[in-house]
Amino acid sequence: MTDNDDFLPAPLCRLDQLADPGSLGVERDGEMLMVIRQGNRAYVYVNRCPHRGIPLEWVPNQFLDSSGRLIQCASHGALFLPENGECVAGPCAGAYLQPRRCHIGNGQVWLD
Ligand code: FES
Repeated sequence: MTDNDDFLPAPLCRLDQLADPGSLGVERDGEMLMVIRQGNRAYVYVNRCPHRGIPLEWVPNQFLDSSGRLIQCASHGALFLPENGECVAGPCAGAYLQPRRCHIGNGQVWLD
């Protein structure tokens, strides 16, 4: 181990850690994030609902509605599109989750 090892980027998770569709809560540099999997795509958002500024999930790693196709806030039921974080129903309709750019490489999800 060298002094530089502290600065090497690390993946957020492996894609196969998540069900399809699925979600996972992760922390990176003190920031709570959620990774959303839809097929072979992954999306990363800050885990903060635009309605009240609180985390979306009540059950760890559960950020999706029963269909698995929408991100759901557990507090008041706001629904968000995984593709762009837009709230399409609920008390903050028209607001957006805060995205973090990411990509998949070697079967792992990385922040850009
Ligand atoms: S805190 Fe998310 S919908 Fe109210």
